[in-house]
Amino acid sequence: MNKKAILLAGGAGTRLFPLTKIVCKQLLPVYDKPMICYPLATLMLGGLRDVLLISTPKDVPMLRNYLGDGAQLGIRIEYAEQPKPEGIAQAFLIGAKFIGNSGASLILGDNIFYGKLDFYRDALAIERGACIFGYQVHDPQRYGVVDFDAEGKAISLEEKPKQPKSHFAVPGLYVYDERVVELCRTLVPSARGELEITDLNLLYLKRKELHVKLLSRGMAWLDTGTQTSLLEAGNYIATIEHRQGLKIACLEEVALRMGFITQSELASLIDRLPKNEYRDYLRLVCDEGPSVSHPEPER
Ligand code: DAU
Repeated sequence: MNKKAILLAGGAGTRLFPLTKIVCKQLLPVYDKPMICYPLATLMLGGLRDVLLISTPKDVPMLRNYLGDGAQLGIRIEYAEQPKPEGIAQAFLIGAKFIGNSGASLILGDNIFYGKLDFYRDALAIERGACIFGYQVHDPQRYGVVDFDAEGKAISLEEKPKQPKSHFAVPGLYVYDERVVELCRTLVPSARGELEITDLNLLYLKRKELHVKLLSRGMAWLDTGTQTSLLEAGNYIATIEHRQGLKIACLEEVALRMGFITQSELASLIDRLPKNEYRDYLRLVCDEGPSVSHPEPER
């Protein structure tokens, strides 16, 4: 697999004001860690180690301060600025040099996935075309919506339709082949002045090269768009973490389990952490080592 990862974490954060006056949305807490950890963990669990993190000129320094160059996690993180929120698909133009001749996967910095990530690893293994996902929601009009024919083939894609043709929203996680930058260059801004990710996906759909995989109802795809959904996402994470005694999207743990860092590298990283519950947890993870007894070491 030769795919680069883009984590898009810009935007004005207006809906969450005043929470976002100082700190960007993607650094707000979702229970016990900053929001950005969840999408970054998803990319890492997909096996991707080359990440371009895109955010606003104001927020890039703060994100860089938090995650650095990624070496502590055995990954490489580069940073780029998106001066204005001119569309999700603009990420590929900003990241054109970083992507080069590879394929690319994009995740939005406010999208949280919890569950078995086989669907994502399968998508990353696809050589030609693009792959997006469908997830059943009760309020599809808030999202990109995909509709299917009787054989289950995707036939339409619409961005925030007033009258959605299905209940399947398209989550903010996408996989593209190496033509993505070239295709993005042909896009024109929509009525709201954005390069729409849905328009990019339509280009692949028209070429009959768009794969759409439905996520099972056992997967959690959580929303963090409003104060209430942010709190609910935090409560969800807390509930699972307390029940299992395992952390979700603990980046250092993911790095160890994926073989990106060794046990001794984790041990020296732990030595530099403040004494608290997070450090105690990582100490247990480290003592246990990379091969775990849990049947589902995903998260
Ligand atoms: O969350 C999934 C949905 O994300 C998809 O179903 C939609 O098709 C897609 O358009 C997008 O919809 P949203 O309404 O959530 O888009 P929003 O403009 O809120 O942007 C989503 C995140 O991406 C947000 O955290 C800010 C960031 N963003 C957005 C734009 C437009 C950027 O960093 N730069 C941008 O230019």
